Amino acid sequence: MLKTHTCGALNLEHIGEAVTLAGWVNRRRDHGGLIFIDLRDRSGVTQVTIDSEQAPAAHSVAVQTRSEYVVQVSGQVAARPEGLRNPNLDTGDIEVIAESVTILNTAKNPPFYISSAADEVDEMLRLKYRYLDIRRPRMTQNLVLRHHIVRFIREYFSARDFIEVETPILLKSTPEGARDFVVPSRLHPGEFYALPQSPQQLKQLLMVAGMERYFQIARCFRDEDLRADRQPEFTQLDLEMSFVDAADIRAIIEALLIELSGAMLPHKRMLTLPFPVISYADAVEYYGIDRPDLRFGQRLFNINDLVSASEFGVFKSAVASGGAVKGVVFPGGNALSRREIDELTDFVKHYGAKGLVWIGVAGEPDASGNYPAASLRSQVTKFLAPAELQGIVARSEARQGDLILIVADKLAVVNQCLANLRLEIGRRANLIDPLLLAYCWVVDFPLLEYNEDEQRWQAVHHPFTSARDEDWEKLESDPGSVLAKAYDVVLNGWEIGGGSIRIHRSDLQDRLFARLGLTSAQTQSQFGHLLEAFQYGAPPHGGIALGIDRLVALFAEATSIRDVIAFPKTAAGTDLMLDSPCPVTDTQLAELSIAVRPPQKQGNSSPLQ
Ligand code: AMO
Ligand code: AMP
Repeated sequence: MLKTHTCGALNLEHIGEAVTLAGWVNRRRDHGGLIFIDLRDRSGVTQVTIDSEQAPAAHSVAVQTRSEYVVQVSGQVAARPEGLRNPNLDTGDIEVIAESVTILNTAKNPPFYISSAADEVDEMLRLKYRYLDIRRPRMTQNLVLRHHIVRFIREYFSARDFIEVETPILLKSTPEGARDFVVPSRLHPGEFYALPQSPQQLKQLLMVAGMERYFQIARCFRDEDLRADRQPEFTQLDLEMSFVDAADIRAIIEALLIELSGAMLPHKRMLTLPFPVISYADAVEYYGIDRPDLRFGQRLFNINDLVSASEFGVFKSAVASGGAVKGVVFPGGNALSRREIDELTDFVKHYGAKGLVWIGVAGEPDASGNYPAASLRSQVTKFLAPAELQGIVARSEARQGDLILIVADKLAVVNQCLANLRLEIGRRANLIDPLLLAYCWVVDFPLLEYNEDEQRWQAVHHPFTSARDEDWEKLESDPGSVLAKAYDVVLNGWEIGGGSIRIHRSDLQDRLFARLGLTSAQTQSQFGHLLEAFQYGAPPHGGIALGIDRLVALFAEATSIRDVIAFPKTAAGTDLMLDSPCPVTDTQLAELSIAVRPPQKQGNSSPLQ
């Protein structure tokens, strides 16, 4: 090795030892006869002192070094003089007095300071020079954390009799709701592989094959619109088990997440154990969304019954047309200025609301629990009857000093607006404890949803998910009411995983495909292999997949999964460092029997989000 120690290892125990370090020049300070180099490697930074009198040769080399030069230093560990110690640095009590300095490589001036905080550097620049970005301690730590998490997961399942099996990347289309990335076949002109959106069918076939307990750290590919929590290629902990029910899968994943959280984030606190189990219907009713952030309360409330005959046309007509009137309380929000309330109104309009009704609670209720009219302020007091107003305040459970916020619209719009408004309230009113890990399970999802555009029913999870036993009989007569044996696991408002108990009988699988509008010819060509396999003794089975990128991002407190992926794509699906995707040569195209049509002009959206 070109080094005896790493740059994060030395402390007072090493005083007097002869050491050799190698790394990058984090910073160089030149005080004439004395040069200080902060030498950095993956593990940390050590201060090296080069004295022109004690080590003239070393000094003449040190003079030539610049930021990010690769340097080797030999010398002796010494205690820093009292008063010059740096308690913020692991190696802050010592320095290395250099005897020799060797430049192993020079470096161009980097396009950004490695020591700058991420948010000070344009992310496009960080992605273009990702190898420099990863030198930043925060990025290094994120990748190290990711390694520890994946290693923990592998050991956890290996210790429980699971076998990691690799499944192909060159696959056939596996419908999971997104578009496929396709790969042309040279040997079969005009035919294509598809990259797996997940190993879903293969892991089910492994259950038919008798593996019983499978897992894989699996790369998945989905050509879909990207966001901060979505990449076109991402990693799942993929898992499947035979002879289990939904509670068995949940139990093994819940125990994993509890152990993993304890091991990786000992300073954090898990809100409720065991994880709360919330039905999809309740999640949407009380949080407006199927991935509730349970770190704080502020549940939504519904006032349809109170305002169906209101004088206020906005409320009355929303109820009459089958929509909803729901609200949420901003604690302490009565102190907000009109300008701040207008900001909240603009906020919900961004999510589709036409307006925002607000009611401030300034006073206390009287003995009968009613609020004196003068203590309630609102832009719509003149439209709401006193009893309506009292009813709304009581339903909202607002207290003195709070602000009630209400949206009336189609149910989906109301939920979308209030789910986001609730999170905004959480941020603005400081309701979110950063040390909390609020896990929960969401269960009893509908099996099917109606796709208005395509005029057909489609699977909410994927078409291999089983209906609840008692609901199969409604598959044809009332498909919208059929609930699935599916479950999602949510952490702090992020969906970190989802899975289900599968259909393992070919007759039921056939019935579901028919319900989805597939002809038997389509079923045969797309899923014939699965239906046939099910006829050779498929065991009851089920599984789940966790999004590793999302889990690591939450553990690392990163705002985007890009920050926990070494070489991510931009939101436009491009790799700025390799400049991909890019055209291939005509020879390659000819070999693949492919002709490219002139591309259609794309919109000019920002590649980052
Ligand atoms: P699902 O599609 O719900 O289920 O995916 C499982 C988990 O993977 C993560 N995830 C993503 N992470 C980053 N970028 C993406 N584009 C992305 N898409 C999904 C999420 C999600 O919860 N085969 C089924 C699992 C099963 O039924 O066992 C599946 O893939 O955290
Ligand atoms: P308007 O009758 O449109 O002037 O609205 C009166 C008040 O009700 C305004 O302050 C709007 O912000 C609010 N408002 C209008 N439409 C809605 C709606 N769909 N939901 C909640 N508030 C609304």
